[in-house]
Amino acid sequence: MYDIQVGTKPGGIEIPRSLVDLEMQKKMRAMPKDRQPIIPTGPDLRSQYMWRVGPRPSKTRFQELNSEPVIPEGFPEWKKIMDSWGFKLLSTVEVGTKPGGIEIPRSLVDLEMQKKMRAMPKDRQPIIPTGPDLRSQYMWRVGPRPSKTRFQELNSEPVIPEGFPEWKKIMDSWGFKLLSTVEAVAEMAAIGFDLPKDSFTNLMKLGPHLLGPTGSDLVSHGEKGAVFAGYHYDINFLTIHYKSRFPGLSIWLRNGEKVEVKVPDGCLLIQAGKELEYLTAGDCMAGMHEVVVTDSTLRAIEAAKKENRSLWRVSSTLFSNVASDAVLKPLGHFAKSPLAENYPPLFAGDYFEKELLVINLKEKDGA
Ligand SMILES: [Fe+2]
Repeated sequence: MYDIQVGTKPGGIEIPRSLVDLEMQKKMRAMPKDRQPIIPTGPDLRSQYMWRVGPRPSKTRFQELNSEPVIPEGFPEWKKIMDSWGFKLLSTVEVGTKPGGIEIPRSLVDLEMQKKMRAMPKDRQPIIPTGPDLRSQYMWRVGPRPSKTRFQELNSEPVIPEGFPEWKKIMDSWGFKLLSTVEAVAEMAAIGFDLPKDSFTNLMKLGPHLLGPTGSDLVSHGEKGAVFAGYHYDINFLTIHYKSRFPGLSIWLRNGEKVEVKVPDGCLLIQAGKELEYLTAGDCMAGMHEVVVTDSTLRAIEAAKKENRSLWRVSSTLFSNVASDAVLKPLGHFAKSPLAENYPPLFAGDYFEKELLVINLKEKDGA
């Protein structure tokens, strides 16, 4: 089992599903001749080697799916070459589209967070997710990439879908508008925090900023309580969005109160992410939020149906980031805060990987 999952698999071993799935064979035979696949009569003839890409959880219920890769003897460059190509391919999955039902909200796997959620008074409680987020998301990098970086996969080139000649122009036009707004707010925030005006914007230069238009299908998932994005905080610096087509976003204030967001027409909403919390040693906390179908979403769905409008909840969000190669640490007078020790200096790129690893570790705790 181990060798089949990670390592080599010679030809003539793997049985294609269509050889053993009679239901599938029936469907294949019912297809018109010019669309029919070849019905296999034996195992696949190709040989294959399997190499795991990315970190594994140290404890898991699924040991055989998470075992260490096998490195063939006599190839000292093996790991370097496999990882280099593997991470490049993996990053095209990360920068590009992410269908609904893929991303696991932190609140699904973080038991500590779940405990806190259950301890909240009923009217402030988030919906505890029972599965992955339902929203789909596309990611587009905004702004120049560093020519040299320790964190190549966080800084890869964006994927442009075929058949949209205006794609780059439209994405960049909206992306740069949002980014320059964030920069203006970041300067104002620095002044407000009694820091030099360019404290935050200097760190954001060459950052892996992402424009992430998000779509949630209210036709398939228009029932009350459907979780499009489970209770979580954003791990970037500042998140900025234009008003979404449908309500459903709730945020938690610092005093614990839960508020359903209503963005006035022509206004933008900005939320603090974990990087801002880091730079201010927790003086400005990352804001918790969720996107769930509520009574107001249901009312908006009814109104949209009457007017024959689309039932896709679309929001266009920009996630601004501190540059991967910049150091995250409490800035200026925040370094003297008693909470500063909770925010030890580290590269922003390492911080991102650490966040993902925490979710991984929590996942095994939850198992
Ligand atoms: Fe978020």
